[in-house]
Amino acid sequence: MIKFHILTLFPDLFSGFLKESILARAQKQGLIEIYVYNLRDWGIGKHNQVDDSPYGGGTGMVIMMEPIDVAIKEITKDWMPKKNRKILLTPQGKIYNQKKAEDLSKYENVLLICGRYEGFDERIRALVDEELSIGNYILNGGEVAAMAVVESVFRLLPGVLTKEEATRIETFHDGLLEYPQYTRPEDYYGKKVPPVLLSGNHAKIEKWRHEQAVKKTIEKRPDLLDGRD
Ligand code: ADE
Repeated sequence: MIKFHILTLFPDLFSGFLKESILARAQKQGLIEIYVYNLRDWGIGKHNQVDDSPYGGGTGMVIMMEPIDVAIKEITKDWMPKKNRKILLTPQGKIYNQKKAEDLSKYENVLLICGRYEGFDERIRALVDEELSIGNYILNGGEVAAMAVVESVFRLLPGVLTKEEATRIETFHDGLLEYPQYTRPEDYYGKKVPPVLLSGNHAKIEKWRHEQAVKKTIEKRPDLLDGRD
């Protein structure tokens, strides 16, 4: 069982996401718990201030050290060392990938801190175990990145996907792109489904699918095969 803790200034962004079908099912089954915290609850003074203008001048606001520091301390106070991870989502982080998702799926608690606005006080970086980016583009904040991390990790947990889904992914994915899939109709204005899929010969179908996955990967994403035979 994994627990995700999301620290954000926009908790409402997560309400629809958390109700999504497979994620909702996994939460009901007790395979995953997700807690969303509003950073403003740790804001300072009567206005619950969380950001301030930058030293040295310049436009925009910077998220302050104190609300994040105190929030992290409170959220993580009962955590056992080693089995948990504190992550800051930022375009300055290491690029997130499937391998990282697999690593994260082994922790008991994962704290995802979403930045917003122009940035945060540089000293916040020292409060976390690592910084992650979901790609070389700039989002308004870490919320969408946090969703990407949660979704990619939880689907790896045993019991989340049905046995059939998991087997299919293990057998064929194995670092490859998905094989091509087809559904009805068999012939769409002359665009036909490959005949092997209609043959009923399962061994042949499996072989074809694997070949197609390899072919697709070589054509579209040869980088995924780096270091493989
Ligand atoms: N916050 C803003 N842009 C981001 C990105 N690409 N990845 C993670 N967090 C971000």
